[in-house]
Amino acid sequence: MLSDQDFQAVRDYLSGTAGLVFDDSRRPGLTSVINERLTVSGASSVPAYLALLQMPKGADERQHLIDAVTVQETYFFRNPPQMEALRRKVLPELLRRTVGRERPLTIWSAGCSTGEEPYTLAMLLLELSPMLGVGSRTTILATDVSAEALAAAKRGVYSGRTLDTAPATLRDRWFEPTSGGGLAVKDEVRRLVHFQSHNLVHDQPPFTPGEVDLIVCRNVTIYFARDTTRALIGQFHRVLAEGGYLLLGHSETLWQVSEAFTLVPVGDAFVYRRSPVSRAPLSARLPRAVRAAQAARVRAAAAPRPRRVPAPVAPSLEAARLALVQGRYDDAASIAAALVEGEPLSAEAYVVLGHALSTLGRDGDAVEPLRKAVYLDPTAGHAHFMLAGSLARLGQNGQAAVSYRAAARSLEGVDRDALAAFLDGREVEELVDLCRRLADISVETDLGEDRLASGGRGA
Ligand SMILES: C[S@@+](CC[C@H](N)C(=O)[O-])C[C@H]1O[C@@H](n2cnc3c(N)ncnc32)[C@H](O)[C@@H]1O
Repeated sequence: MLSDQDFQAVRDYLSGTAGLVFDDSRRPGLTSVINERLTVSGASSVPAYLALLQMPKGADERQHLIDAVTVQETYFFRNPPQMEALRRKVLPELLRRTVGRERPLTIWSAGCSTGEEPYTLAMLLLELSPMLGVGSRTTILATDVSAEALAAAKRGVYSGRTLDTAPATLRDRWFEPTSGGGLAVKDEVRRLVHFQSHNLVHDQPPFTPGEVDLIVCRNVTIYFARDTTRALIGQFHRVLAEGGYLLLGHSETLWQVSEAFTLVPVGDAFVYRRSPVSRAPLSARLPRAVRAAQAARVRAAAAPRPRRVPAPVAPSLEAARLALVQGRYDDAASIAAALVEGEPLSAEAYVVLGHALSTLGRDGDAVEPLRKAVYLDPTAGHAHFMLAGSLARLGQNGQAAVSYRAAARSLEGVDRDALAAFLDGREVEELVDLCRRLADISVETDLGEDRLASGGRGA
C-alpha cells in the first residue's frame, strides 16, 4: 500500500493535473496503478516517479498515468430518463432554434470517454431531424483528457454490455457488423462527431462565448472537488448561448456550485438552462457571516505579514465552522476530526467534518461522519442531504434515495435562518423540492442503468 506520504504526493499531483480527487477508499486502487507505472517506467520510488512526470521526457508517462487513473465507465443511451429528456424536450427545442440561423446546432460532450455519449447524441439527432422537418446542421465536439479513451472513441467499434442499453431498432439502423464480431458506428453518425483532447481543469474551453447550445458533462465532476467544479461550471456558463442547456450526471447538481442556471424538470430527469440574465455570483449572495469572513481574509492578505507564527487554532466547533465558510476545507476537516476525537457524540462536529470532506470531493471519507451525524441527530436535514449526495456520487443510488427522502422530511418546515449558511440565499422549499426529485431519480437509476455499472467510482 502507498505510504501516507506517497499517497498524499500522488494525490496532490493528480488533483493539480486533472482535478481528480482520491479519498482513502481509493488508496488500494491507486496503489496498484502506481506500482504498475513504477515497474513500466523504471522509476525507483514514488518521489523519483513524480520527478519524472515533471520533466519534458515524462510527457508520455504523464498520459499513461492519466489513462490509468481515469474512470471510463460509459455506455450507449446511458440513463433512460435523461435520454427521454433529450429526445422529447431539449433536442427538439434546440433543433427548432437553428431554423434560419447561420450557426449550426453546437453540442459539447465534455468528458466523452470512449465515445458512446456523443455517438448517442448524434443518433438521437439523426432520428429527430427528419421527424421535425429540420435540417441537421450539427456539430458535436467530444473531448476527454484520456488519450486511450479518445483512440477507442475514434475507432468507433463496440461490443458487449456497452450496447445493451441501445434500443434494438437504433442498433440495427446506426451500426454495422465488423469482421471481428463487433459493431461499428456508421459513417453518417461519425460525420457529426469530432474528437479532441482537452483537459477540463487546465485548458481553455474549445469554444468562444455563447457558441454552444448544449453541454453534456455527465459523471465527470463526481471526481472533482467542489471548487474545481465551480470553476468549470463558470466556463460552461460563458460558452453556452443564452437559454442553452447543461446536462450533468444524475447524481450531480449545481446546489452550492452555481446560481447562473435554472433547473428544468423533464419527466424523471432534470436539465439546467443557462439563465437569461445571470444572477449574482454565489459569492455576492453569501450570508453576512461568510461575507464578513471573506472581508477579514482580504484585509489579512493586504496587511503586513506578522513576524511571529500564529498559535495553532484550538479545535472548537466555531473554528471548524469558520474554516468551512472561509473555504479552508482542509483546515475545517482537520479541526472537526480533532473535535470528534474528544467529543464523539457531537452531531454538529460530524456534520462539519462530512461537509468539508464532501466539498473536497472525498465522498468515500465523508459518508461515515455524515452517517454518524444523522444517527446522533436524525432531524439534521442538511446532513441527510450531504450524505445522500456523497452516496449518489459513489454510485450507491438506493441508499442515496433513502437519504434524500429523509432530508426532504427533516427539512420541511425548518426555519430558514437556522440553515442560512447552507442555503446560500435560497429557500428551504427549493431544497426540499430538489431532495424529492433526486430521491425519485436515484430510485430510477438504482433500478435501471446501474445494473450495468460496476458500482460508482473506482480507481
Ligand atoms: C465516467 S466517464 C463519463 C463518460 C460519459 N460522460 C458518461 O457519462 O457516460 C468520465 C470521463 O471523464 C474524463 N475526465 C476526467 N477528468 C477529466 C479532465 N480533467 N478533463 C477532461 N476529461 C476528464 C475521464 O477520462 C473519463 O473518460
